[in-house]
Amino acid sequence: MTNVPTIPAERLPELLQRMPKAELHIHIEGSLEPELIFEMAQRNGVTLPYASVDDLRRAYAFTNLQSFLDIYYAGASVLITERDFHDMAWAYLRKARADNVVHAEIFFDPQTHTARGVAMETVINGLHRACTRAQAELGVTASLILCFLRHLSEAEAFETLEQALPLRDKFIGVGLDSSEVGHPPEKFARVFARCRELGLHLVAHAGEEGPLAYVWTALDLLKVERVDHGVQSSKDPQLMRRLAQDRIPLTVCPLSNLKLCVFPNLGQHNIRHLLEAGLVATVNSDDPAYFGGYMNENFTQTFAATGLSAQQAWQLANNSFEASFIAPDDKRRLRDRLDAVFAEFG
Ligand code: ADE
Ligand code: ZN
Repeated sequence: MTNVPTIPAERLPELLQRMPKAELHIHIEGSLEPELIFEMAQRNGVTLPYASVDDLRRAYAFTNLQSFLDIYYAGASVLITERDFHDMAWAYLRKARADNVVHAEIFFDPQTHTARGVAMETVINGLHRACTRAQAELGVTASLILCFLRHLSEAEAFETLEQALPLRDKFIGVGLDSSEVGHPPEKFARVFARCRELGLHLVAHAGEEGPLAYVWTALDLLKVERVDHGVQSSKDPQLMRRLAQDRIPLTVCPLSNLKLCVFPNLGQHNIRHLLEAGLVATVNSDDPAYFGGYMNENFTQTFAATGLSAQQAWQLANNSFEASFIAPDDKRRLRDRLDAVFAEFG
C-alpha cells in the first residue's frame, strides 16, 4: 500500500493487533511457559532445579545471552515424548493465531534433545504434527527450521544433519543459534555448504550481541538468505548498504534485545534506523515465554517506545511476508489481506 491512511495514534495498538503478519524468528523451546514446564516435568518424572512456577519465573532476570541460555536449556529438559513437542508447538500456534500471525517459520534445537537421548524423529514428528494441525484448525501456515547449536562442534552439526535427513520433507531450512561470541559463522561453513546443496533454506543468528563481522561472514561464507537479529549491523554503513541492496531481511526481536541488555531500553532500539535505511527489517518474539511477550506485545511496546508510524507498521508486516520462504503468489495474497485491514482504518 503506497498510501497508508492517516490513523490516529490512539488506534495504533488496535491496528497492530489486527494486521496480519508472519513470525520468522521464534525458538519453539523459548515458547515453553513455566506452567507447561512444570506440567511436563510432572508427567515425565523430570526433577527441575526450581521449587515452583514462581521460583522459576524469578530466575528470569537476564544480564546477557548466556545467562538466558542456561535457563532456557534447563527448561527444555522436560521435553521427552512426541506429545510434548506437539503440545509445546500447539500452544505457541494458538497464541500466534490470537495475535493475527498468519504464517510462522519456527526454529527448533534438536541437539538439545538428542543429547538427552530423545530421538530426532520424536522431536520433528511432534512439531510437524502441530504445524499440520494449525493449518487445518487455525488457518495458520507453519514450517520448521532446524538450528545447529554453535557452541557445539562442526562434527556434531554434521551428525545432526545426517539424523534429520530421513525427515527432510518436514523442515524447510537450517539456522544457527546459541552462544554467539567465540563461535563465528565460519565454524559452520562446510555444514551450510552441504545444506545449500540439499536445497535447504539458510539463515543464521549474527550480530545479536556478537560482533558485526559475524554478519559479514554469515552473508559471505554461509550464504544465508536472512540474518537473525543483525542489529549490530547499524554500526557499519557499508554493511547497511549491502543488506538494503541485496534485500537481506533482518529478523529483529525487540523485547529479546531489551531483556538480554543488547539495548538499555526500548526507546533506544535501532529498529527505526533499520527501516529508514531501507532494510527489510521484521519484528519477532524470539523466546516469548522468557522475554515478556508474543508478537503483539513486541509490536505494541516497540511502537509505544520508539514512536513508529502506521506506515511503518504496514512496512513491517509486508516485510515479514517478503522475508518469508512462502511462494510469491502467497506473498501477494497476504499483502492484499494486509491492505484490506489497513483500508478499514482509513
Ligand atoms: N536460542 C534461543 N534464543 C536465542 C537467541 N536469542 N540467541 C541465540 N540463540 C538462541
Ligand atoms: Zn533467536
